[in-house]
Amino acid sequence: MVALKEGYDLAAEVLRLKKQRNAIILAHNYQVPEIQDVADYVGDSLGLSFKARETDADVIVFCGVHFMAETAKIVNPAKTVILPDLDAGCSLSESCPAESLEEFLQQHADKNYYVIAYINCSAGVKALSDIICTSGNAVQIVKNAPADRNILFVPDQNLGAWVMEKTGRKMDLWRGVCYVHVEFTRNSIESIREQYPAAPVVAHPECTFAVRLLADEVCSTEKMVKYCRESRAESFIIVTESGMLHRLRKEIPDKTFIAGPTDRCACADCRFMKKNTLEKLRDALANLSPEIRMPEALRKRAELPIIRMLELSR
Ligand code: 13P
Ligand code: SF4
Repeated sequence: MVALKEGYDLAAEVLRLKKQRNAIILAHNYQVPEIQDVADYVGDSLGLSFKARETDADVIVFCGVHFMAETAKIVNPAKTVILPDLDAGCSLSESCPAESLEEFLQQHADKNYYVIAYINCSAGVKALSDIICTSGNAVQIVKNAPADRNILFVPDQNLGAWVMEKTGRKMDLWRGVCYVHVEFTRNSIESIREQYPAAPVVAHPECTFAVRLLADEVCSTEKMVKYCRESRAESFIIVTESGMLHRLRKEIPDKTFIAGPTDRCACADCRFMKKNTLEKLRDALANLSPEIRMPEALRKRAELPIIRMLELSR
């Protein structure tokens, strides 16, 4: 890593390198504020997938976690895709290794499962799936699933349970969780609501049933922006990862956003999302590394279920 000289403007250097590389910076809503502020696009998994597919830049710098950068490479293989920190993983993705899913499907071949995979999974899991979904389109994807097939929903049991509630469709659920969203509890949200009784509770569907029950709105991170902008309320309790607060405060400066607390801390950070820093982003652009690569046969198998999702989500 380059030592910082006095007066060195890291953000300006990132923008200079971005231009030199003909790169686009895509950032998830959970990235640190300094990264969100230099990004060309900040959004949720669905919006980021569309942007990655459509870009004509030579390089995609993906400021998010590994499965997101991998998805960008799958949908736009001609581009150089870099992720500032290769260790930016995801507890949901880890909970469902491709080998375990493959074994499960073999053991339950009699069920002839239609596999719906939440995008928070590896390329190997995507390659074993019929269709991908995100939190932004999961309800729509499940409604469109063949009526005569058993559905296996992987890897997030909370998102899966929420979609079952919304659609009435029964599904078998993989037992994965997001370690960040399950930290919010009924007690922690009830106590903040006592302090701000007029503020609607806006929660991500990766939260537990007990927390979702308390929420006025359950939605993807992108839909949180729309909900808060259009609501008549002036303050909101945001029950998701802390990075979301920066996006909301920046885009809707006249309203107040309160971090949903957990039992242990005042707001929740995803340790994987927070692995990316502005310094690492600068180094990634300078070195065009770490780069996301995968065997072409795997990429092609993983691409089809993503394309099915994108076509249903237009
Ligand atoms: P969104 O697609 O709603 O941004 O969710 C991504 C994620 O990782 C939530 O933890
Ligand atoms: Fe994965 Fe949870 Fe982090 Fe999202 S917040 S990237 S689901 S660990």
